[in-house]
Amino acid sequence: MAGTAELIIEGKSYQYPTIEGSEGEKAIDIAKLRDETGYITIDSGYKNTGATKSGITFLDGEEGILRYRGYSIEDLADKASFLEVAYLLIYGELPTTEQYAKFENDIRRHTIVNEDMRRIFNGFPVNSHPMGVMSSLISAMSGFYPDSYDDKAPDRTELHIIRLLAKFPTLATWCYKKSNGHPINYPKNSLDYCSNFLHMMFSLPVENYEVNPVISKALNKLLILHADHEQNCSTSTVRLVGSSKANLYSSISAGISALWGPLHGGANQEVIEMLDEIVADGGDVEKYVLKAKDKSSGFRLFGFGHRVYKNFDPRARIIKKAADDILETLGINDPTLEVAKKLEEVALTDEYFIARKLYPNVDFYSGIIYRALGIPTNMFTVMFALGRLPGWIAQWKEMRAAKEPIGRPRQIYTGATLREFVPIEKR
Ligand code: SDX
Repeated sequence: MAGTAELIIEGKSYQYPTIEGSEGEKAIDIAKLRDETGYITIDSGYKNTGATKSGITFLDGEEGILRYRGYSIEDLADKASFLEVAYLLIYGELPTTEQYAKFENDIRRHTIVNEDMRRIFNGFPVNSHPMGVMSSLISAMSGFYPDSYDDKAPDRTELHIIRLLAKFPTLATWCYKKSNGHPINYPKNSLDYCSNFLHMMFSLPVENYEVNPVISKALNKLLILHADHEQNCSTSTVRLVGSSKANLYSSISAGISALWGPLHGGANQEVIEMLDEIVADGGDVEKYVLKAKDKSSGFRLFGFGHRVYKNFDPRARIIKKAADDILETLGINDPTLEVAKKLEEVALTDEYFIARKLYPNVDFYSGIIYRALGIPTNMFTVMFALGRLPGWIAQWKEMRAAKEPIGRPRQIYTGATLREFVPIEKR
């Protein structure tokens, strides 16, 4: 329901329209603020500022709710395939049998990467971080598909979407294979999306590799849980870069770079390294909770806290349960799981965490499952990006369809006022 908000500035009253979303979220539309008042708003980290209206993902941070296009994350994680969720996010509806068959088949027919891409890939040092490699390779795809940035070329966005979904897993597995000196694998199109990824990751030419359905199912669930999360840092980056009419590959490459940060997707690697350190240190979680509360320590409890969730991250709940189930099914005893549970228990009864509403987020338990699936630590954030790819694509597509203007925030200047140039001999 639209309404108005009154602002009184220097004794003068200004009215601004308010808007309300389909879930009752409210905003003040300040499009005319600067023209009418000469003022702008400022909001470090955009904690109170909406960048757009979107119909893709709904979060309720207070209630711990997450829905993709109206479907609950619990339902989708339990019942859908990752490609069904990718289709839902990108096209707005769950696919029919025919739509799904075409989507899956289109992706299958684009899983091979141009062999010249290997020359770019082979130029990276062997221990390059896979996130830096992936950001470069995805950007390099625009070189192989110049119609992605040629405004005069017919619009082939749908084909570029299929190419990204199809080739990202292939390129991601190259990073893993190179890190251990193994030959890279070609995709096997007889396999489903998750099984094909596992085949490219783990099969070796010297023996037959059978995909373990438990592992493939676990991967499917993890990718769904990471698929979108409204206007997070990396998604906002994809939208901002895309708003300049930069091509889809460059926009996604920028999103990969933003996700790499340890405060964002890079946290899943930080969490497992933190948990390993605690295990190695005798499992004294109280010591690390104390460190996290001591600002001078510079230590953060990675995997805890969230800009939006001030309650449990629903994804963390699902992943925590899945970690129990998968480790039990695979007969794996990973001491970090018990340490993680103890850390959660201690933190959630500690005033510092309660006062700041710091709960486990999506990254807290995910690394324990990735490790159980055989994924190495430095590939954890690549797995996050693989899951987030359809969400980034959906958000980019929505921004373009809405013909949103180029994103260009204002600022308040606090630097030197006008001064005369002084020749160097007089400085
Ligand atoms: C993701 O946005 C998304 O949706 C992201 C994501 C997605 O799906 O895209 O959900 C994925 O990025 C999850 C978050 C992963 N990051 C981490 O786990 C890193 C550790 N967490 C934080 O650094 C922090 O909680 C953030 C970055 C997640 C959120 O930071 P905010 O909202 O800017 O909050 P803040 O840093 O201002 O913290 C508020 C207070 C501060 O204390 P005070 O200054 O008020 O005394 O809480 C403290 C912080 O010091 N705090 C922590 C803490 N997180 C916040 N103290 C100890 N350990 C932590 N983990």
